Amino acid sequence: MKAIVYHNYGSPDVLKCEEIEKPTPGDDEVLIKVRAASVNPLDWHLMRGKPYIIRAMTGLRKPKDTRLGRDVAGQVEAVGRNVTQFKPGDEVFGACRGAFAEYVCAAEDKLALKPANLSFEEAAAVPVAAITALQGLRDKGRIQRGHKVLVDGASGGVGTFAVQVAKSFGAEVTAVCSTRNVDTARSIGADRVIDYTREDFTHSGQRYDLILAANAHHSIFDYRRALSQDGIYVMAGGGWAQMLQAMLLAPLLSLIGSKKMCSFLAKINKKDLVLLKDLLETGKVVPIIDRRYPLSAVAEALRYLEEGHAQGKVVITLEHKNKT
Ligand SMILES: NC(=O)c1ccc[n+]([C@@H]2O[C@H](COP(=O)([O-])OP(=O)(O)OC[C@H]3O[C@@H](n4cnc5c(N)ncnc54)[C@H](OP(=O)(O)O)[C@@H]3O)[C@@H](O)[C@H]2O)c1
Repeated sequence: MKAIVYHNYGSPDVLKCEEIEKPTPGDDEVLIKVRAASVNPLDWHLMRGKPYIIRAMTGLRKPKDTRLGRDVAGQVEAVGRNVTQFKPGDEVFGACRGAFAEYVCAAEDKLALKPANLSFEEAAAVPVAAITALQGLRDKGRIQRGHKVLVDGASGGVGTFAVQVAKSFGAEVTAVCSTRNVDTARSIGADRVIDYTREDFTHSGQRYDLILAANAHHSIFDYRRALSQDGIYVMAGGGWAQMLQAMLLAPLLSLIGSKKMCSFLAKINKKDLVLLKDLLETGKVVPIIDRRYPLSAVAEALRYLEEGHAQGKVVITLEHKNKT
């Protein structure tokens, strides 16, 4: 089968489309015929081996795992002997390692049945970004109906899901994005949209019960100032300085007064995939897809994502000769 493989860390030029052996599922795994995948910033961090600290886990000089791609949607081709919830032919979506390939194995507990109303491309756009939005808002941000929620970086993969998930909880949502994304932010349900090229929300005097930084670009002190008295700041991602501040200063700042600040790592699980499936099937959440690339162009897809201005999700579409 064809798969995207990399043997050294570096720019997208290190990615090669090679013929490799089709995998066999382990006892708790499902073999998926990949119909679509999507790219996430995690993929280019793994490709570059940056920040360097991640190499302690991924391999100091070369990547231990030569395959990339987390988000997947496709058809079940075979199942391991302990798998009870899926059978060959089922259409599924979820997370795995090595989704940029014609076939991939995924753990049963990181998959759910694909929402019936979604294409494979739309379903592949969901797992990492939407679960990050959901867990950031619900688990870390303790979102409640009527909360004033601000999503910073509202137009990217995580942000477009965060706006819609926050609305589904009954929050009053303010989206922060650049001029060209203002209309999209409104169309996905934002009650208010702030164009960050014209207005700095951290200096407006407006206070929020919950700020989710899908893409943090302000200092942690600016975010803190924009919180209401018992407000919570949750950082999903952003620039290096913002990430360091969130990891080192957020726990300390949370000790002073009643405002809370934190960062987190999302954990893909079946329960949340099923919850998202319901939101997608009822139309409360709709994946926003910016661009589509074929498997052979994963390098171009990652190059585009790395520029940092994707409008929603970037998807990889797989063509199989014998489509079933
Ligand atoms: N914690 C976790 O478990 C977890 C999981 C997934 C992702 N992440 C992290 O979350 C971050 C976002 O991921 P993503 O998939 O949403 O990335 P993405 O799709 O690449 O984000 C691109 C978006 O960021 C916006 N942006 C760029 N500069 C901005 C600024 N100054 N202010 C506001 N928005 C700005 C862009 O909007 P404009 O074009 O309008 O500027 C663009 O729409 C990344 O750092 C990623 O590594 C963390």
